[in-house]
Amino acid sequence: MIDYTEKIPNNVDLGRDRVLQRALEHWQPAYLDWWYDMGPDESKELEVYLRTAISVEPDGWAQFGYVKMPEYRWGIFLQPRDQNRQVNFGIHKGTPAWQEVPGEYRSTLRRVIVTQGDTEPASVEQQRLLGGSCPSLYDLRNIFQVNVEEGRHLWAMVYLLHRYFGRDGREEAESLLERRSGDADNPRILGAFNEPTPDWLAFYMFTFFTDRDGKFQLCALAESGFDPLARTCRFMLTEEAHHMFVGETGVARILQRTCEVMNEHKVEDPSDVRALGVIDLQTIQRYLNFHFSVTIDLFGSDASSNAATYFTTGLKGRYEETTIDDDHVLKDAEYPVSEVSGGKIVTRNIPALTAINERLRDDYIHEIQAGVTRWNGIIEKNGIPFRLTLPHKGFHRAIGNFAGQHISPEGDVLSEESWNNRRDKWLPSAADHAFVESLMSGRVIEPGKFANWIAPPIRGINQQPLNFEYVRFN
Ligand SMILES: [Fe+2]
Ligand SMILES: [Fe+2]
Repeated sequence: MIDYTEKIPNNVDLGRDRVLQRALEHWQPAYLDWWYDMGPDESKELEVYLRTAISVEPDGWAQFGYVKMPEYRWGIFLQPRDQNRQVNFGIHKGTPAWQEVPGEYRSTLRRVIVTQGDTEPASVEQQRLLGGSCPSLYDLRNIFQVNVEEGRHLWAMVYLLHRYFGRDGREEAESLLERRSGDADNPRILGAFNEPTPDWLAFYMFTFFTDRDGKFQLCALAESGFDPLARTCRFMLTEEAHHMFVGETGVARILQRTCEVMNEHKVEDPSDVRALGVIDLQTIQRYLNFHFSVTIDLFGSDASSNAATYFTTGLKGRYEETTIDDDHVLKDAEYPVSEVSGGKIVTRNIPALTAINERLRDDYIHEIQAGVTRWNGIIEKNGIPFRLTLPHKGFHRAIGNFAGQHISPEGDVLSEESWNNRRDKWLPSAADHAFVESLMSGRVIEPGKFANWIAPPIRGINQQPLNFEYVRFN
């Protein structure tokens, strides 16, 4: 169990290391300043029905109750140590997992932790205004839950920086509170985390697509030979599952509502669908295309010597590394990657070590496809002959082999001009954004009520009814 009488709740015996404890207690008010500044807008006084971690055991770690968000007990929780754990891949395979940072990998490891840590506050910043247009109290509570947990994920990475990287780590921890999503001078590190999340359809897409990138990155880091990183990522993954649930069910509820209205009024044309105050399926497809393409860029270049180094040195593994049936060293192995050659997309094998990013991206796409198939099941059940599709992975890419190419969602290589001519068919246009925002101009906060453009969920949070007061305004 976690001791909540401590100033910084933790299960890492923080009190034993006074210097570290003081450093983190010094960072804590700076973190709260950031939260007041960049956390959910006008939320300070709200009482929110949140879950808080009370233990790191797989079952029953969460406790539910009303909390004012600035009083949320952000803390440091690592999965318990396995004394026998080893480095499971790369050139150090078979040696005991590291409990301290290996000197020669110090700067690489710090970079990996900072890059992960930077995404956590970024998403809170991206979502900070959405409370003002929430479709229900249930959804408002969910976005706040996601936000406080992203804040905790920042704590998780900052603990590692303070505990294992000395002065450099403390400086990095400060910088994590200084960068701002979308800021021209001091942006967040990764592209997708500087894109705006202007409306709730974008929010659900973000938590489905981009939080799932988070899951795959955390899974790869949970394999790390640096044991404290692996243990902290394992616990973060238990929280990430809820974020993806919010995204998948959010889009599913929008699809359900749109299909109901289409059937009730026997309309198909997008403009007729829009006139009834719900989001047409074509616009949902365009949002999907956007979020999928900017998110798969986050996995990095198809062929990457950095990724090879992370793997070889045992710092970052593959998805479910220990269950893969190979030598976990990959000296002679190959992996297929795609590129444009002679006006066509061709696939060729490259050394598997340099294709580590591409492999993680493919694992991710496989899981995403399963979610899209579940969404299509809703449309099918409603008897509507429309199906959502994932665009080709070369579509709208800014990083890797497809950057600078003009690939259609079907995977055709086009000229820049013909791609641009069809852009608004494939990606949300200014008019699409204006329409979606027009639907979400106000908020719905009466218990049990839902905005017209979204169906209620199947069940409430923690077995509470749908008309439960998930957020109290007082
Ligand atoms: Fe996170
Ligand atoms: Fe998340």
